[in-house]
Amino acid sequence: MGKYFITGQKKIDGSINLIGSKNSALPILAATLLNSGENIIHNCPDISDTHTAMQILKYLGCKVKYQNHTAIINSASLNKFIMPKNLVKKMRSSIIFMGSLLSRLKKIKINYPGGCSLGNRPIDLHLNSLKKLGVKIFDDQKNIICEAKNLKPNTIRLKFPSVGATQNIILASIFIKGETKIINPAREPEIIDLQNFLKKMGANINGAGTNQIIITGVKKLNNTEHTIIPDRIVAGTFLLAAIITHGQIQIKKIIPHHLPLINFLQLGSEINLSKNTIILKAPKKINPIKKLITKPYPGFPTDLQAQFVSVLSLAHGKSFVQEKIFDARNKHIHELIKTGAKIKILKDNSSFIINGVKKIYASNLISKDLRGGAALILAGLAAQGQTIIHDQNFISRGYENISRDLNNLGAQINFFN
Ligand code: EPZ
Repeated sequence: MGKYFITGQKKIDGSINLIGSKNSALPILAATLLNSGENIIHNCPDISDTHTAMQILKYLGCKVKYQNHTAIINSASLNKFIMPKNLVKKMRSSIIFMGSLLSRLKKIKINYPGGCSLGNRPIDLHLNSLKKLGVKIFDDQKNIICEAKNLKPNTIRLKFPSVGATQNIILASIFIKGETKIINPAREPEIIDLQNFLKKMGANINGAGTNQIIITGVKKLNNTEHTIIPDRIVAGTFLLAAIITHGQIQIKKIIPHHLPLINFLQLGSEINLSKNTIILKAPKKINPIKKLITKPYPGFPTDLQAQFVSVLSLAHGKSFVQEKIFDARNKHIHELIKTGAKIKILKDNSSFIINGVKKIYASNLISKDLRGGAALILAGLAAQGQTIIHDQNFISRGYENISRDLNNLGAQINFFN
């Protein structure tokens, strides 16, 4: 269990280079299984989730090297289709290995990744979609065994634009002769990055980022080199760190339109953009947001909900936030209330009324998930006194070294593992 000791009230003021996107690196690392050769992935973030993904690749028989944010994966020696239980349990998104293992080895055995503190996280959209491609699935609610002997193209309409299910359908259909269509796919930038990676390998895939993706099967894929897009959620977290401390920040190597800039402007920030840089100046007084509802991209991202709630706790007025992507992304609320934030959770357990307060106070907090933990760090930056956050390695799953980065921007954080 790690501990963050944060001395509050220090202004964030400085410039930072953004790291590569966790949620783009993970599916692309899984996709390196497809070509039985070597792929070089640059700007791969040095976080525990990408290391877990690389451990999975190694376990399956691949040769893996990682240095200075570049991963070199050679999947020619892939020799296993049974996923390592302990690693799947550690990282729910290991489910995206299904599609690429089925394409490459025609079978996979994987234990249920299980829910996590965001609520129930079923995989029905993944499994139903794979079945529509002809995958045979044996599922005893503990393990899933899939066989992909005679895959066939199909049109799959997703009832919800699930990011993971979209990725699994793409990876599973890459070699299926004919045309597979995904209607109502996820449109996140990470899906576009996966498409760009696969196209470089020689895949025939188009439409990522729109409401229809078409994959036309090819016979094989080649080795390639790719640079992961910047992490829009890490960027949003640092922008909010500047806002909650009434400071200012310059973030380089960012793709501005990947962020919900309108919501940062609603808080009263001043934003200047140049090609791949954002400069944000915090408002003297943080504005409340009348209604902030999480939606699939390009809507307001669920992965910034917790961090926005921290900032809105200090807004001058009342805000309403509703989490509509996950059914229990609310573990940070109880912790924020300990600091003196005035937040009411409505009966649906996913809507919050936040009455902004003038001050929040240092407390002993427990982080219960990745983005909730980041939200508590933001609260610690603004609280009077020294906040302690107990973290079971959630935050390092998605942030390379958040205390180092924030300290370089003027914060005062000590982290002890
Ligand atoms: C991806 O998770 C991201 N993770 C999440 O980021 C992100 O919050 C989420 O997309 C939504 O944008 C990665 O990319 C590794 P979903 P994923 O399938 O693919 C329900 C972070 O903090 N659902 O779009 O698991 C599901 O329960 C993480 O970086 C089904 O019902 O998300 C949820 O309510 C957290 N059945 C909703 O859809 C399914 O088969 C969104 O899930 C699949 C999903």
